[in-house]
Amino acid sequence: MKLWGGRFTKPTDRLVEEYTASIGFDRRLAAEDLEGSLAHVKMLGRCGILPEEDVARIVEGLEELRRRLEAGTLTFDVAHEDVHMNMEKHLIDLIGPVGGKLHTGRSRNDQVALDMHLYLRREVDEILELLADLQRALVEAAERHLDVIVPGYTHLQRAQPVLLAHHLLAYFWMLVRDAERLRDARKRIDMMPLGAGALAGTTFPIDREFVARELGFARLYENSMDAVSDRDFILEFLADASILMMHLSRLSEELILWSSAEFGFIELDDAYCTGSSIMPQKKNPDVAELVRGKTGRVYGHLMGLLTVMKGLPLAYNKDLQEDKEGMFDTVDTLKGALVLFAGMIRTMQVRRERLARAVAEDFSNATDLADYLVRKGLPFRQAHEVIGKLVLHCVRRSRYLNELSLEEYREFSDLFEADLYEVLDPRRVVDARNVRGGTGTGAVREQLEKAKSWLADGSEAERRGRS
Ligand code: ARG
Repeated sequence: MKLWGGRFTKPTDRLVEEYTASIGFDRRLAAEDLEGSLAHVKMLGRCGILPEEDVARIVEGLEELRRRLEAGTLTFDVAHEDVHMNMEKHLIDLIGPVGGKLHTGRSRNDQVALDMHLYLRREVDEILELLADLQRALVEAAERHLDVIVPGYTHLQRAQPVLLAHHLLAYFWMLVRDAERLRDARKRIDMMPLGAGALAGTTFPIDREFVARELGFARLYENSMDAVSDRDFILEFLADASILMMHLSRLSEELILWSSAEFGFIELDDAYCTGSSIMPQKKNPDVAELVRGKTGRVYGHLMGLLTVMKGLPLAYNKDLQEDKEGMFDTVDTLKGALVLFAGMIRTMQVRRERLARAVAEDFSNATDLADYLVRKGLPFRQAHEVIGKLVLHCVRRSRYLNELSLEEYREFSDLFEADLYEVLDPRRVVDARNVRGGTGTGAVREQLEKAKSWLADGSEAERRGRS
């Protein structure tokens, strides 16, 4: 007999039962479901809706279920469709018909919404911590390699040399925005839907503020129909996760390129790579590749839920059950990526000699030579042309700018003097850019300090939030 079987004359078709059940995946909400039920039943007692002795027995029963869940001895049955009815069935089996009073003034529609809010709030807090740890790994790597210069690219063509620290910190600031987005989304996750009932509220004199306080929610939904049919908070999470994965995917792509023989800028730790079943020499950057690849499924989950939502009339529709698997998978995918990335960054080796050679053997100092002529009075546009011709001259002769004689330079412009060679050194090129936000060592040191104080503020705010 189903918990809702009264109106039915036949058992559910077995295939229908399997098709409509969500217990296979929403069992992940079991702890939140119990937490929500405990707050709900305490409220029913406080408001005089249930006698205290019933409340005490139900609380005892729920606590026993929590112990069994933690011990891993709680079973789930597809015949009871979802986590909510499995739990209610367990409760009634355990304490008898009084367990059937738990669902007073409540519907699965507000119950499932509550579970999702509780679940996602906890996960977002964990994700924010993992994110901060990856940010710390980036800051540490930047600090360790403050003297290392790498080619900077535009169009994946050598552009201007930059500090490796500058390059890594660019990702730090992307992750700052990701953290800010998640913290902002958390405000909408931190909202309490219970009390909405099926859609219209309830006839019982419930105390929604009490439940919100018990569960630590900052706000309540002001409209019961909105409360049961809103999934914006999950969409925001999926959107934020998509952008975050996109950032990790871009960094993955760079680590993959940089660890190739063609670049040879870094070596990823053996512990973060795998081999080939046929080619004995291979060491593949699988973690970075998989993070790049798994970005696709996170985008997919965002598009999936947006599409589920787009035609839904108010209020609850069974379609909403499709909100869960993508959310769970996004949480798992994101947490896995963040943990592995922090380790990968902490253990990667930077090939300093290769990088020193790379930045010495290109034309990425050409802008600085043009700026040199500008400082001697030539309009920038003309300086650009002079240096362009010089580069072409070099390319045709397989030489670099620092290998030409002063006489050769003078054939292109008589503004050139012996001091021109000073501006060509990669270190000089980098340190000439000491403007705020630039790659000069001084500017990057300041940037590092800002990054560290951002991290310190974040953990300070978190400590305050928790206490
Ligand atoms: N398993 C359902 C879900 O995940 C719970 C709510 C079901 N409500 C209902 N009226 N069928 O959405």
